[in-house]
Order: sequence, then structure tokens, then C-alpha cells
Amino acid sequence: MIDPKTVPTFKLNGGASIPCIGMGTFGSDRVSPDEVAQAVAGGLRAGWRLFDCAACYGNEDKIGQVFRAAFDEGVVQRRDLFIMSKVWNDMHRDVEKAAMKTIRDLQCDYLDMLFIHWPFPNYHAPFCDVDSRNPDSKPFSVKEFVDTYRQIESLVHLGLVRHIGISNMTIPKLEAVLGKLRVPPAACESELHPCFQQQELFDYLNSKGILPIGYMPLGSPRRPERDILPEDIADMQMPELVEIAKAHNCHPAIICLKWAIQRGQLPIPFSVHNYEANLAAAVTEPLTDAEMAVIATLERGNRLVKGQVFLWPGANDWHDLWDEDGTIVDCTDC
Ligand SMILES: NC(=O)c1ccc[n+]([C@@H]2O[C@H](COP(=O)([O-])OP(=O)(O)OC[C@H]3O[C@@H](n4cnc5c(N)ncnc54)[C@H](OP(=O)(O)O)[C@@H]3O)[C@@H](O)[C@H]2O)c1
Repeated sequence: MIDPKTVPTFKLNGGASIPCIGMGTFGSDRVSPDEVAQAVAGGLRAGWRLFDCAACYGNEDKIGQVFRAAFDEGVVQRRDLFIMSKVWNDMHRDVEKAAMKTIRDLQCDYLDMLFIHWPFPNYHAPFCDVDSRNPDSKPFSVKEFVDTYRQIESLVHLGLVRHIGISNMTIPKLEAVLGKLRVPPAACESELHPCFQQQELFDYLNSKGILPIGYMPLGSPRRPERDILPEDIADMQMPELVEIAKAHNCHPAIICLKWAIQRGQLPIPFSVHNYEANLAAAVTEPLTDAEMAVIATLERGNRLVKGQVFLWPGANDWHDLWDEDGTIVDCTDC
């Protein structure tokens, strides 16, 4: 077990501390809710204290049973944990109901951070394939986003949520909404791994005091089928990463995690087999400046979650979701 007190922390804009690494809990349509919950149970005993959950992962009730048992058995106390969850796209108009269900399922009394999972209310069913489209999908709306955010702000005032998170945002969308939010977002969850570093977004978030949290920090080798395209690059097979891993006598996954933490983003790796080694990455020998510099050169624009299933009627293709030319595509009220 790793003593959680030895795991470094990042500071959030409100002053609270958050562990520098968290355990992901998305089974990627491949790992069952029971297996994920088992990994959380093992993770708690291995020293993990931050858990990245979401209603749409379909396993919060199982993870909640693990938390409850850990509290009852004295393995941890609620206040020792940092529990994050996310409002799914079909609940943007009823955030309180969604949050209450998540809090009940996770048996955690309150959430340390609640994210808006996607900035659109566009729903796709679990296990859907890459060509599935919801005809009710809509482009981004500032008004709708801010209204959803306001509902989380109310939960902060009620003490049910401690911090607010946003996810899958772009700089143009952030520019459009940040000035309208009363409680500033504490963190933004984005896809971040060595071959997809999103330097501009990373710098923008830091300049606004928003902690970048990196999802798919290892390049998600077992992501859902709908997120796999032939041109995708396998980050952990990049020769430079493999070489640095050899020098540290570890798996390239560990190098990805060390790089993330040293760069200043909080990685949330998923693992049912390697979670002990992943937590150890945060407390063992850091990468050298030269190794960090090599990894900085591995940017390849390797976006893995394109998000096709969230496209609205009339959108061209997945690039429209990411505002690549600096404006919000098809925004209804910008
Ligand atoms: N906000 C969002 O929209 C969003 C989107 C996607 C994901 N997320 C979050 O990000 C988390 C992580 O993303 P992810 O699960 O897609 O990808 P990931 O963490 O990049 O990759 C997970 C995969 O890497 C393997 N792995 C983990 N540690 C390893 C190690 N030390 N050595 C070798 N293999 C290792 C795991 O296999 P084993 O299980 O066999 O170890 C698993 O197959 C999710 O669980 C979720 O919480 C958020």
C-alpha cells in the first residue's frame, strides 16, 4: 500500500487540495460494473483516494457499495476521499435529480466535484456504435450551458457539491461562458496524453486557474469500438516512450503518468490489473528534464474521442464538435 499522505497534491482555485492522480472508472463497454467496483475496492486498500465516476458509466451503484463497505469497515472515512462524478447529457435540464441519484448510488453524502460531462445535451445510448445519431441532437448553446451550470451552482450552495467541473470544452466555448459563471470551475476534464497534448487548451486553462484533468492518459488501448479508427496512434508504443520506460525499468504507462503529473495535469488512468503500479508512479523517481522534453515532441494530434455520436443534424463531421477554426460551430446564441 502507498501511504495516501505521500501522494502529492494539486491546489484548486478555491484553495482545496486534490490528489495529483485519480482512478478512472469507465469500463469502456468491456469491463463489467462488478469488475470496476472490485478495482475500486482494491484501489482504496492500495492507497487511491481520488475516484473519477460518472452516471453514464453505469456502475455508480456498484462503486457505492464498495465505498459504503470501506466506510463501515473503517478502511477510509468519507472525508479522506475525493469523489467526482458527471451529469450525463440527458439530464442537463434536471441536474438536481441526476446529482441526488449519483449521491445515493455512490453512498457518499456529497460530491467533491460534479462535472458537466459534455457541453451539449446530446444523448447517446450506452454501447451504441459509431454511426448512431440522435435526431434530437443540438449544437452548443451558451444559454443552455449556463443554465445547466447554474443548477450545479445551486447544489454548491446546498452543500451537496463542493466544486464544479466542466469537460470536453474548447477555448471558444470557455471564452463564451466563463464570464457568466458565478462559481468558477475548479477543473476541466479533457483528453490529454503524450500524442494529444492540447497545449493551447492546457495553457488557457492554467491561465484561468482551472486545473486540467487528463482523461485517457495512457491513450486508452481498450477504448470502445466506436472510438477506434485506423489512423489512431498507440501512445504507449511510441519508440521514445518505450525507451524512456526501459531506462526507468517500468511500463510505458508509468511514464505517461509521470509526464502528466510533472507537466501539471491530473491523470485519471483506468485499470483493473495495474492500479497499484499506477499509483506508485506518483511517488517514485521523476522524469528528467531531458525526458520531459522528449515527450513534449510526441504531439501528433491523436484525438481518440472524436465524439461522432454527439453530432447534430446538419453538422459536417466530428471536427465540428471541437471548434477547430476558433469559432463555435453552429452556435445558436453566441
Ligand atoms: N470526461 C470524459 O468525457 C471522459 C472520457 C473518457 C474517459 N474518461 C475518464 O478517464 C478514465 C481513463 O480513460 P480510459 O479508461 O479510456 O483510458 P486509459 O486510462 O488511458 O487506459 C486504460 C487502459 O490502459 C491499461 N493500463 C492501465 N494501467 C496500465 C499499466 N500500468 N500497464 C499496462 N496497461 C495499463 C488498462 O488495462 P488494465 O485494466 O488491464 O490495467 C486499460 O485497458 C476513464 O476511466 C474515465 O474515468 C472521461
